Amino acid sequence: MTSAEIRQKFLEFFEKRGHAIIPSASLVPENDPTTLFTGSGMQPLVPYLLGTPHPLGKRVANSQKSFRAEDIDEIGDNRHTTFFEMLGNWSFGDYWKQEQLPWFFEFLTDEIGLKPENLYVTVFGGDLETKIPQDDESIKIWEELFNEKKIEAKYVALGSEKEGSEKGMQGGRIFSYDVKKNWWSRAGTPLKMPTGEPGGPDSEVFYDFGSADERGVPRHDEKFGKECHPNCDCGRFLEIGNSVFMEYRKKEDGTFEKLKQRNVDFGGGLERITAAENKDPDIFNISALRGAIDEIQSLFGVTYPKEAKAMRIIADHIRAAVFLINDGVQPGNKERGYLLRRLIRKSVFEVRQHSQSKFNSSVGVLMFRIAQRYLSEYAEFYKDLPEKESVIKDTIVAEAEQFLTTLDSGLKVLERYLIENGKHEITGEQAFILFTTYGFPLELTMERAKVDVDGFKKKFQKHQNLSRTSSTGTFKGGLADHSEKTTRLHTAHHLLLKALQTVLGPEVKQRGSNITSERLRMDFSYGAKMTDGQKKETERIVNEKIAEDLPVIRSEIAKDEAEKLGAEHEFGQKYPDRVSVYSIGPKSATQENPQFEKAFSIEFCGGPHVTHTGQIGKFRISKEEAVGAGVRRIKGVVE
Ligand code: SER
Repeated sequence: MTSAEIRQKFLEFFEKRGHAIIPSASLVPENDPTTLFTGSGMQPLVPYLLGTPHPLGKRVANSQKSFRAEDIDEIGDNRHTTFFEMLGNWSFGDYWKQEQLPWFFEFLTDEIGLKPENLYVTVFGGDLETKIPQDDESIKIWEELFNEKKIEAKYVALGSEKEGSEKGMQGGRIFSYDVKKNWWSRAGTPLKMPTGEPGGPDSEVFYDFGSADERGVPRHDEKFGKECHPNCDCGRFLEIGNSVFMEYRKKEDGTFEKLKQRNVDFGGGLERITAAENKDPDIFNISALRGAIDEIQSLFGVTYPKEAKAMRIIADHIRAAVFLINDGVQPGNKERGYLLRRLIRKSVFEVRQHSQSKFNSSVGVLMFRIAQRYLSEYAEFYKDLPEKESVIKDTIVAEAEQFLTTLDSGLKVLERYLIENGKHEITGEQAFILFTTYGFPLELTMERAKVDVDGFKKKFQKHQNLSRTSSTGTFKGGLADHSEKTTRLHTAHHLLLKALQTVLGPEVKQRGSNITSERLRMDFSYGAKMTDGQKKETERIVNEKIAEDLPVIRSEIAKDEAEKLGAEHEFGQKYPDRVSVYSIGPKSATQENPQFEKAFSIEFCGGPHVTHTGQIGKFRISKEEAVGAGVRRIKGVVE
């Protein structure tokens, strides 16, 4: 079957079971400042999972375009792609495990014909810390489902991935794992979740390619651990679907409470399900991707799978570029634009390496030929795609040409360095300049000269740390500068967040911020327009804390400790093991004894701040408005 057929069958299957079929949301999330790209089907549906009624009812299903930038460096193996389609069905406080697991099993076995003996499942094994129990209900349902197919389904408790690789399958069919494997939320494990975030235990289905008759995939590769088990990375098992039973929400004190409604959030990778149906563990062989692979073969005279890695990178990156451009992204130096630029440049680089027409200016045109395979493959389902053909072409061609020019100038600089150095060697610093200023990849420099790779790596590491800091700034909005006025507004910003939580409720969370010397701006989660009274009260609290002239103290503490203290941090950020926190108050707090328990506010923050709140001046809210469903934007000034 093709992925288009499987997508169709999935949507029809759930339509018959009372689901409204909704269109895929854009890859560029709307009204969600927490993330750059839509990376799963549930993201655009969060408000409905939290209780807002969906206009089309309590059951919806779709195929969602998804992009996971974090997988970009994994591309090249047989099962990862940056762009993928996620088949999804949701129950907003309607059906539950007893419907969801049998439906998905029926879909896989009866509808698309996977052999049940090739399926293995996992469930949540319970968590002592949050006291959320093992999912016995799902274990029972799975036992019955396999038994109906005359398959004995032994349950085996595995716990962690490490335990899995020590204990192995033990003849099991249903396995339980810990929070790292069988708990789902946008932020990950319960500990990582911010207050208010929904999540829950999940149950995953795996396809066993090692026993999928014809293919002869090895039963296990010991490089990945002594024993094999469903979550082993050796490639024998592929996860093809995840049913999340989203019934919890994290509370301020770190414990969990039940959501108002019990939700089902199912997501399954369309490409992976298709690969399972095709009994071929290489997802680049499914028809949707194979067309591009064939085009690459014929354009560049390379053969698949001999040159698999480079060909998969080209096929993956061009497909992602097509869909990103279709959703309005253009190459640039920041955020989404930067990711798109990286995708196109990396594929130009690979094309140049593997085509006979090195540095041929028609590379962009050839790349568009590959893109055209996707345009025809997806035109029927994504009806807006054909209209965008010319912008997709122009963008890819222009970016490719520009990159080739950059490569050309890099080459000239490289020649100059070689003459200057008087030997066939390039220093780490020079390789680094070639890379950052001329976009000249290290591999290319290494082709032409001996390179001090360690020196390059040191420079690169430093650069990455710096750009990580600045991109943290980008995602958080961050400070425009470190001037005195900006610093005063920055401390006011911390007071404001706490004041908003005091007035509107502790579930208010920061969703973005930006501070210039003129004003501060904060996006925060809250469902309604603030009343005049609420705004006045918020201002009053901030000004009261300013009048108290509280000390502002920076401390470096373990991340776990900071989390335990309930220090505020923005959703989705990753922090090192030791973090910098700023606490404000109490009056008697000192650097030596910051008295966190009595502080008015504590936040994960790199500064800078004033030393005492009295330096801030008088605070005033200048504007409060909506930026999207459940997110408000407030602006304020100090005078
Ligand atoms: N949200 C879950 C996932 O992304 C299931 O849809 O895996």
